[in-house]
Amino acid sequence: MPDTDRLALLLRLSQTFNSSLNLDEVLNLVMDEVIAAVRAERGFVMLNDAGGGLSFRVARGMDQKTIDEPHFQVSRGAIESVNRDGLPILTMDALQDERFKERASVMVLGLRSLICVPLKNKERQLGIIYVDSRTRSSQFNATDLELVSAIASTAAIAIDNASLFNDLQQSKEDLDAAYITTLEGWARAIELRDHETEGHTRRVTEMTTRFARHLQVAEADLAHISRGALLHDIGKMGVSDAILRKPGPLTAEERVEMEMHPGFGFDMLAPIAFLKPAIDIPFCHHEKWDGSGYPRGLKGEDIPLAARIFCIVDVWDALSQDRYYRKAWPREQVLAFLREQSGLHFAPRLVEAFIGMLSEPERHNPA
Ligand code: C2E
Ligand code: SIN
Ligand code: SIN
Ligand code: FE
Ligand code: FE
Repeated sequence: MPDTDRLALLLRLSQTFNSSLNLDEVLNLVMDEVIAAVRAERGFVMLNDAGGGLSFRVARGMDQKTIDEPHFQVSRGAIESVNRDGLPILTMDALQDERFKERASVMVLGLRSLICVPLKNKERQLGIIYVDSRTRSSQFNATDLELVSAIASTAAIAIDNASLFNDLQQSKEDLDAAYITTLEGWARAIELRDHETEGHTRRVTEMTTRFARHLQVAEADLAHISRGALLHDIGKMGVSDAILRKPGPLTAEERVEMEMHPGFGFDMLAPIAFLKPAIDIPFCHHEKWDGSGYPRGLKGEDIPLAARIFCIVDVWDALSQDRYYRKAWPREQVLAFLREQSGLHFAPRLVEAFIGMLSEPERHNPA
């Protein structure tokens, strides 16, 4: 292949490989391009894993089982030395090669020609690319080795980038999962103190998510809304037991302390970057459409949408359950109350949409 063609090929491959940050996709592209470039029969890519082992990542024409079989031993030795020393190997004809002398397996398999090159980005050894051919008509030469080595240099950068991105995504997912477990613990702690509201948190979280989806709120906002619902009363941590668990009605003074819970919630969550986008519900779930709510007396659409959505679900669920200070209301009375409070406590069109949603059978989202 003339130098200019090689340059053009490498340029094209560099663009192709770097078009994706998905590691499996990049590995598949690399594998196919290497096999095509030297017309190999089969091949594979192995990467060093965190545990220090080399693992099989993508293959053509063979599988892990083949590599594990005794007759593949010769090639396994080659692979390990390439990965260890970072130097490429070409055997033009295994039958003639001194290193493979007296290996019955070479005869049995008719192994002819293999190329194994390191995948190295800067000084980091990432793994190897291996290709081989068993027919005499497709033996590799020094030019093939150079070409595969050049492709490997380009591929290594793309593979390294995709691996770093994968790791980053994985640790972000791990971190999110750890955070959510913590949040569920907090929500549970509040329910234990306020124990008549047991199950309320889970129900309003599920129902708020369903309602928001019904209203076609952007999918990206749903996670924040769901976390906000889960933590809506986290500020009750700051309210004393005597008030939180009082069997009868609250005095005006007690009511003042109770009404501090959205502000306590704000203070708890505001410093946590992960929860900042979820703060509207804990902070604003007791605001009312007509401006008579607390803590700020916000009015109409000045109340964040997440809180306008959530407060309907919260009151609907609260009234449907027994509380320390009263029995559960029957369903019809709850719905009548929501209608009556339309335009006072609640956004009118949202009340309508909520009642509409309750009257239709729950649709399950496909996965
Ligand atoms: P919660 O019991 O979960 O009630 C949440 C919200 O649902 C209330 O917010 C209110 O908007 C509505 N709601 C609940 N029960 C009733 C009811 O019997 N009648 C009407 N009209 N609305 C109801 P609100 O009023 O800001 O209260 C916040 C929290 O303060 C309540 O959560 C509860 O923990 C506490 N609380 C409110 N009133 C009393 C009371 O009379 N006695 C006691 N011990 N706690 C109360
Ligand atoms: C609750 O929703 O469990 C209590 C009402 C509130 O203060 O948010
Ligand atoms: C909304 O709060 O987003 C709807 C406004 C309304 O109910 O009128
Ligand atoms: Fe509340
Ligand atoms: Fe609630």
